[in-house]
Amino acid sequence: MEIIDLNEKYYSIYFKCLEDWSDDINEAGDHKEIWFNKFKDKGLRVKIAVEEEKACGMIQYLPIEHSMAKGKDLYFISCIWVHGHKQGIGNFQKRGIGTKLLEAAEEDVKLLNAKGIAAWGVSLPFWMKASWFRKKGYKKIDKNGMAVLLWKPFVEDAVPPKWIKEKKTPQLTEGKVNVTSFTNGWCLAQNMILERTKRAVQCFNDKVEFRIISTAEKESLCEWGICDALFVDGKEVRTGPPPSYEKIKKIIEKRVKKLKT
Ligand SMILES: CC(C)(COP(=O)(O)OP(=O)(O)OC[C@H]1O[C@@H](n2cnc3c(N)ncnc32)[C@H](O)[C@@H]1OP(=O)(O)O)[C@@H](O)C(=O)NCCC(=O)NCCS
Repeated sequence: MEIIDLNEKYYSIYFKCLEDWSDDINEAGDHKEIWFNKFKDKGLRVKIAVEEEKACGMIQYLPIEHSMAKGKDLYFISCIWVHGHKQGIGNFQKRGIGTKLLEAAEEDVKLLNAKGIAAWGVSLPFWMKASWFRKKGYKKIDKNGMAVLLWKPFVEDAVPPKWIKEKKTPQLTEGKVNVTSFTNGWCLAQNMILERTKRAVQCFNDKVEFRIISTAEKESLCEWGICDALFVDGKEVRTGPPPSYEKIKKIIEKRVKKLKT
């Protein structure tokens, strides 16, 4: 197994989070590719774990100034993923690949003269676990619901990062159901929810006001303090794990039925 910088040979599998076998992933559109092309010029770095020419793990990190956290002179790991499903190439987790990807990213970031590295994880024992980063020497520094922000400073004068927190939520629309999708592009699960929502709103034509807010623009991210989320009539829809198309449609339908005719 070797860790390499992402190159063109692995672009298409990276844009599918190493899960080209998954129907769900194939629903996620091309937002990740668009996001990659935008952020690669802003310092985004991606490393891939490769075994026998198969991409089995990846880590993506970018200058924190372009991330969903506030900070200075740090890099931010938005995602680390070692393929863990039995489908496709099979389960590569718990073989030390995640540790090697993280070490490679830390080395890289030190060479880039960053003062430290930040990461995020969930406080529960699934997905990207905050506890996994803690075992790797990262310290919890902020929390936003279940999302824990952690960091590993390399120098004494490194400034601790903070989460950008929610500032406002979408308002109701007179006479219509308001559906607002915040989307950044970095996460296929979130992109999939956007695509499912786009399909669902089409069932209700002019009964719904649908708005997509791109938070790939930092001003927009800071204005709302929201990175990826779905709101229906001002109420946030739980998006972890990603709701199915049917579930999203049902939530909207329930609100449409309450509209005065
Ligand atoms: C977190 C994650 C990256 C860790 O990757 P990994 O390759 O499984 O990590 P490692 O193998 O380095 O470490 C995991 C464990 O295996 C153990 N381990 C490491 N090498 C090992 C080996 N050769 N044999 C047996 N166990 C080993 C480690 O001690 C560690 O122990 P722990 O379970 O007590 O923490 C991986 O589990 C993952 O991708 N999780 C999902 C993350 C996710 O959802 N990402 C998308 C979020 S948006």
